[in-house]
Amino acid sequence: IPIARIRNFSIIAHVDHGKSTLADRLLEMTGTVLSSGSSQVLDSLQVEQERGITVKAQTASLKYTSILDGEEYLLNLIDTPGHVDFCNEVNRSLAACQGVLLLIDANQGVQAQTVANFHLAKSQNLFIVPVLNKVDLKGANPEACEEQLKTLFEIDPKSCLRISAKTGLGVDELLEEIILRIPPPSSNRDAPLCALLYDSWYDRYRGNVIVLFIKDGHIKVGDPIQFIHTGLQYNVKSVGVLLPKETPTTQLSAGQVGFITCNMRTAKEAHIGDTVHLKGVPVPPLIGFKRAQPMVFSGVYPMDQSQHASLRGAIEKLVLNDSAVTVTIESSAALGQGWRLGFLGLLHLEVFNQRLEQEFDAQALMTVPSVTYKARIKGEKNIKAYGGSEITIHNPSFFPNTQIIEELYEPVVTGTLITPVDYVGQVMSLIIERRGTAISSTPLDTHRVMIQSDLPLNEIIVDFHDKLKSCTSGFASFDYEDKGYVSSKLVKLDILLNGSLVEELSTIVHVSKAKSAGKDMTTRLLEIIPKQQFTVAIQAVVGSDVLARETMKALRKDVTQKLKSGGDMQRKRKLLEQQAEGKKKLRMVANIALPRETFIKVYKR
Ligand code: GTP
Repeated sequence: IPIARIRNFSIIAHVDHGKSTLADRLLEMTGTVLSSGSSQVLDSLQVEQERGITVKAQTASLKYTSILDGEEYLLNLIDTPGHVDFCNEVNRSLAACQGVLLLIDANQGVQAQTVANFHLAKSQNLFIVPVLNKVDLKGANPEACEEQLKTLFEIDPKSCLRISAKTGLGVDELLEEIILRIPPPSSNRDAPLCALLYDSWYDRYRGNVIVLFIKDGHIKVGDPIQFIHTGLQYNVKSVGVLLPKETPTTQLSAGQVGFITCNMRTAKEAHIGDTVHLKGVPVPPLIGFKRAQPMVFSGVYPMDQSQHASLRGAIEKLVLNDSAVTVTIESSAALGQGWRLGFLGLLHLEVFNQRLEQEFDAQALMTVPSVTYKARIKGEKNIKAYGGSEITIHNPSFFPNTQIIEELYEPVVTGTLITPVDYVGQVMSLIIERRGTAISSTPLDTHRVMIQSDLPLNEIIVDFHDKLKSCTSGFASFDYEDKGYVSSKLVKLDILLNGSLVEELSTIVHVSKAKSAGKDMTTRLLEIIPKQQFTVAIQAVVGSDVLARETMKALRKDVTQKLKSGGDMQRKRKLLEQQAEGKKKLRMVANIALPRETFIKVYKR
């Protein structure tokens, strides 16, 4: 197929607006897959191939004969992860496209992710085809959507298509519009090979399967190739297209997308965004290379140390297919051996957690997520000792002594919230409570408003989304993008039991939240620390200031009490043995025995 009859595009949409349903319909209407009645072909394939659910891009090549000109076209549907957490991945996938379908549920209107995705596509100069979906539903209001698109993005209402991905209404017209509005790739088949690696997955037998967009030239079995970023060289073992099943071909030519295998044995060798060329025939890289930085961290521990090896296996397996997750070994006196995982954002963490639950057939403890702080320290000696004036604080136990801190910094994001007008008051209160500052508020139509606000990442990683949903009866949507670090008044909040520090319970909080966080922690600990035979003072302190205190009354506990009258010696001994056994698993703090369960209860999300 000549380059002029190739279209490479992607569908971008807010969650649940119908991306998978539309992809299925396109596959079905072009005869790529038979109508099976069972929905979501791309998604189910993903599961088969043990791939990340929303994290990874999917590709399908469709052959379509245009009704208008009778010519056969090759439409390459490049699926992108929906969420801007995966903005890096989205960017890479979009780099293989010339246009996008901006899909909007006509029932729900523009949502936060629609805005974020639009800006991503716009920043890459892609042609945008606005598509209003679910017009078969009674509540659908395509006119309101058109108004929102005009207000927000200056999209001409006349350019909006109305479809039902479910019934197929308007989808044939959409296929024609893809051909008319999205240009073919500007590729050159006579130039040397230059291709973009925008997706890959690991296969036990063949090594990485690599998905490429061939910008220029050709690639075929036996070609010696080299990747620019890694500098590594391989020989191509197989080549093919994704229909969406892998289908071998003799070669891939400029303008096409497809897969290759080349005996690449570790997932780490495949860098999404890397450029490949023929060995000895270098080309400039197609896109700049920037590694995604993890923003949200969480500790992962087996509930029981005997499950350590199998949990490690599960984590290793998952990381093979998601190189954006960072893994470091962590150990805690209370919880034993575990790992500290870094994620691109909240959704990324959630997706991983869900996959871990499926892969690992025991329960894992995932600790409350946290962010990474930064500190600038003073004093030549200290700077030398730390190897630089700026240090990164991944864990509260590395919080430097306040005397040597010049300034502290925390990560912030720019949040986009879309809410019905009636809830603006509640939403603004929530933003203020979370230390946010509203930047702008834009009415989208008569009913809905978009609010943009800077928020500390730390304030949204735990329950912001739930709170937002509950204070707007589920109507608001939220999305965010990274905005870097800002100076902040942070303190380390410590927990003392009878004056002794419990290191594992320290947290880093904003000074304005220290008192309430301290109160919250002490009251929770009062409930979950087992009663002792003496009084225990539970204090939350910052430096030498006590911010909150609870007192746990003494309890005299004698496990053999009930048996005193019965005098069954054997049972009595057994109980005492059990108690001694239990003690071994305890963490001692100032004579106070804290069982693992206490920490698990504190840390649990
Ligand atoms: P994520 O994969 O979570 O991002 O969702 P998605 O955007 O892929 O949405 P999906 O295709 O899974 O559709 C979400 C829901 O909307 C499903 O229950 C679909 O059956 C339904 N849906 C999709 N398109 C239409 C449509 O045109 N009309 C109606 N009535 N329902 C639709």
